[in-house]
Amino acid sequence: MKSIQSNIKKAKKFLDKNHCIGVPTETVYGLAGNAYSDTSVKKIFKLKRRPTNNPLIVHYYSINKLKEDCYININLTKLYNKFSPGPITFILKLKKKSKISKLVTNNKNSLAVRFPKHKLFRKLLKNINYPLAAPSANIFTRLSSVQASHVFEEFGSKIKYVLNGGRCKIGIESTIVNLLKKPAIVRLGGIDVSKIEKILKKTVPIKINSKDKISPGQFPLHYSPGIPLRMNVKRPNREEAFLLIRKRKNNYKNYYYLCKKNDLRQAAKNLYSLLRQIKKDGYKMIAVEKIKNIGIGKTINDRLKRASKF
Ligand code: TXA
Ligand code: MG
Repeated sequence: MKSIQSNIKKAKKFLDKNHCIGVPTETVYGLAGNAYSDTSVKKIFKLKRRPTNNPLIVHYYSINKLKEDCYININLTKLYNKFSPGPITFILKLKKKSKISKLVTNNKNSLAVRFPKHKLFRKLLKNINYPLAAPSANIFTRLSSVQASHVFEEFGSKIKYVLNGGRCKIGIESTIVNLLKKPAIVRLGGIDVSKIEKILKKTVPIKINSKDKISPGQFPLHYSPGIPLRMNVKRPNREEAFLLIRKRKNNYKNYYYLCKKNDLRQAAKNLYSLLRQIKKDGYKMIAVEKIKNIGIGKTINDRLKRASKF
């Protein structure tokens, strides 16, 4: 308990000085900085090597704090009451008087906001008086980090501190819902679209590859382990690592299992770590077995498809 307090204190100290730090969330680790500070936000873009026209998600403790920066609408209230804190991000209209750094949104008048569930991150947010801009803690186009050591693998000594919150429970990024107009999904993620539709009592279209230049679908290559990957493979080549959904009777050295049984949630949790592991083990190519396109399997397939553009 004492170490938790002192780690939060340490994290706050770095953030107050406008440094970026790694933070744990239930989805993936974030690279966090004060969303009100140009200096902090500049550092995030630089460290991540992210194009400055790709806006950042801002993390809040609660809707009360959000009201200072964004307009609240009925769809937000419904989804917030059901899913927040949790793996869902909302795109909202930014208030003119908001203190959010213009660099976060690339001068646009919309903001992506999320209320993360991880206990440590919530404690940190409660202890500071500014929201945290935090994209996933990985170099642009690469795999997200799902444990503290991955953040150091990505940024080395360039990162001042990582608040260690263990392994991420969900292991795959949040679902993003655009609430500026009629609700639409702009990124598949930890919460199934069907659950969102149930709460809003209407169909919510998936608009991932829209022409909108700020939409997350604009970069075809993403979530890449840095080596070629192919999907829906029945038989791998000898030199390929083979990623399978569950354990097989015949075990080979190049076989990697996403879960013991056929549990897609478990598979999502293990996906990024296994892809990292395969690369570390020296493989130059990855073959992935067909993964059922249901529930979070849709999100897994979305990530694999982008990774396969390498
Ligand atoms: O689970 C998550 O969402 C993680 C954790 C750390 O919270 N964060 C995350 O952030 O995945 P990032 O930056 O890797 O992905 C955010 C996506 C980007 O593709 C960005 O283009 C999109 O959100 N985005 C941010 N602001 C937006 C906006 N105003 N309109 C449309 N898309 C936006
Ligand atoms: Mg990312």
